[in-house]
Amino acid sequence: MCGIIGATGLDDVVDLLVEGLERLEYRGYDSAGLVLTAPGELWRVRAADGTRSVAALRGLAASAPRAATTGVGHTRWATHGHPSVENAHPLFDCTGRVAVVHNGIIENHTEIGERLEAAGHTITSATDTEVLAHLVEEQMAGGLSLTEAVRVTLTMVEGSFSIAVVSADEPELLVAARRNTPLILGLTDGAALLASDIPALLGKTDRLFVLDDDQLAELRPGSVRVTTLAGAEVEPPALSIDWDLAAAQKGGYEDFMSKEIREQPRAVADTLLDRHRPDGSLTLDEARLSDDDLRRINKVYIVACGSSYHAALLAKYAIEHWARVAAEVDIASEFRYRDPVLDATTLAVGVSQSGESLDTALALREARQRGARVLAVTNVVDSSIARDADAVLYTRAGPEICVAATKTLLAQIVALELLALTLAQVRGTLSADEIDQIMESLHRLPGMIEEVLKREKEVDEVAQALVAARDFFYLGRNVGFPVALEGALKLKELSYLHAEGYPAGELKHGPIALIEPGTVVVGVATRNPLWDKFQSNIAEVKSRGATIVLVANDGDERAEALADHVLWVPAADQLLAPVVDIVPLQLFAYRLARLHGHDVDRPRNLAKTVTVE
Ligand code: M6R
Repeated sequence: MCGIIGATGLDDVVDLLVEGLERLEYRGYDSAGLVLTAPGELWRVRAADGTRSVAALRGLAASAPRAATTGVGHTRWATHGHPSVENAHPLFDCTGRVAVVHNGIIENHTEIGERLEAAGHTITSATDTEVLAHLVEEQMAGGLSLTEAVRVTLTMVEGSFSIAVVSADEPELLVAARRNTPLILGLTDGAALLASDIPALLGKTDRLFVLDDDQLAELRPGSVRVTTLAGAEVEPPALSIDWDLAAAQKGGYEDFMSKEIREQPRAVADTLLDRHRPDGSLTLDEARLSDDDLRRINKVYIVACGSSYHAALLAKYAIEHWARVAAEVDIASEFRYRDPVLDATTLAVGVSQSGESLDTALALREARQRGARVLAVTNVVDSSIARDADAVLYTRAGPEICVAATKTLLAQIVALELLALTLAQVRGTLSADEIDQIMESLHRLPGMIEEVLKREKEVDEVAQALVAARDFFYLGRNVGFPVALEGALKLKELSYLHAEGYPAGELKHGPIALIEPGTVVVGVATRNPLWDKFQSNIAEVKSRGATIVLVANDGDERAEALADHVLWVPAADQLLAPVVDIVPLQLFAYRLARLHGHDVDRPRNLAKTVTVE
């Protein structure tokens, strides 16, 4: 949700900014811009060309003044003000000597804007961000340095922000700050860097630091100084990551989504690695909760958004079945506003690939304030929810660049299954032998995913056959239901086709009225105790003219007889099967999106990491 990049002390600063924006495009791509502190003045270019904005910016930046060594760039996901050049960042003050890039929302921008206009400022954009530039201008006009002007400005604003500010008056200085949205700092001997996310800085430096909430950083060539907004000196924690540059590049694939789908066997295998001790017990070494802590838990609340919410729904089945603990799952943006009942015996689990989804971060904060123990399941080391939690269970999927979640979702599902097994172990609800058997089944999943990936051509043929369809219903029962939700979400976000996920048994209570010839029903029909009932649900829609696609286990003749098209998958154990069953639905959504001519890595209106409420 908006990407920020900045650097000072580099002869090739403009190249770093443009390359950084290309790597951050997944955070938003409505428009893009950059500003350089060319000696004595600011030099700015902006472009608003949808998913081509950063590419257009690259062209515009070719005429940048080469003497500049300091600058900031921004790729935008519009909140306030439609996508346009006028609303693209960096945004200037009245004098054109202060420029700001911002990720987040300034909630009290209307009242600040009114006051500034009454004082003679001219606000030229419809954004919530521009007031920041004018507030800094006001403070600098009163005699403050850029750093102190930003510090005072931030005492006046409400909301969430990561910002970077430059001024023509202090051309080698970048001032950055954050509250509730991420910002990473980097250092080399002669330069200092900042970015919204790690992939933008991979290969540039290994010396990375996390800026925390309500901290301000001054970046000068070769130095970074961090203080709290109140002015106290802070030693920023070093960030230790094992991602390499190749992991954030396409590596010969047509798009990141193809690459990331194919990385799924490795993501699952790595997430399972070294979790099972030789004595048969389980270890979640990043989870700093003792066995006693876990034994005291009598309720698990899981909060998440989007695909991570689907992983959370699947975890409910595993936790309740294996560990016999009540588990509730909530959409993170709803959780904190409904007065949830939690106490010290509640384990609140936040699931977030990025670790930065603001809804999830705030939900976990709410849970913590109400006394719950908090566990974060995330793919990004030292991300916001990781740092705020009592304990962290990292997925090991590597960086995910495509806006649509694929490999991180499968890694989340297995991580949550490990959590369920751990709860079962400490509570004694599963024997060591039973846990061994489930672990063996988990370790077979990467091979099964490989097998599904080999069948891509068959999925392509089904997509070809259904390219004219406009309405899709995804149905499942039991663990097949979250799989259906995920299949529908992938199709919606990539293909812009109408798709809904439903528990198959619920369809007859209303939505079946929408079924007519031409509607496609995609059923998750893999091994499941509810197969017979599910078969009846499919028969009900088939008799109303729907075209039936079933995800079914190899050799299932009943599925073959019922379906117009079958997406075959190997049979995994019931609670683990979603990790395999989701894969053909990802491939199906991918292929339909490509057939419709869409950019799969950058679907319209979306951003990978949503850092606004
Ligand atoms: O980073 P998070 O896991 O917290 O993100 C949650 C959702 O925004 C994310 O899963 C989103 O729904 C994806 N576009 C799904 O493909």
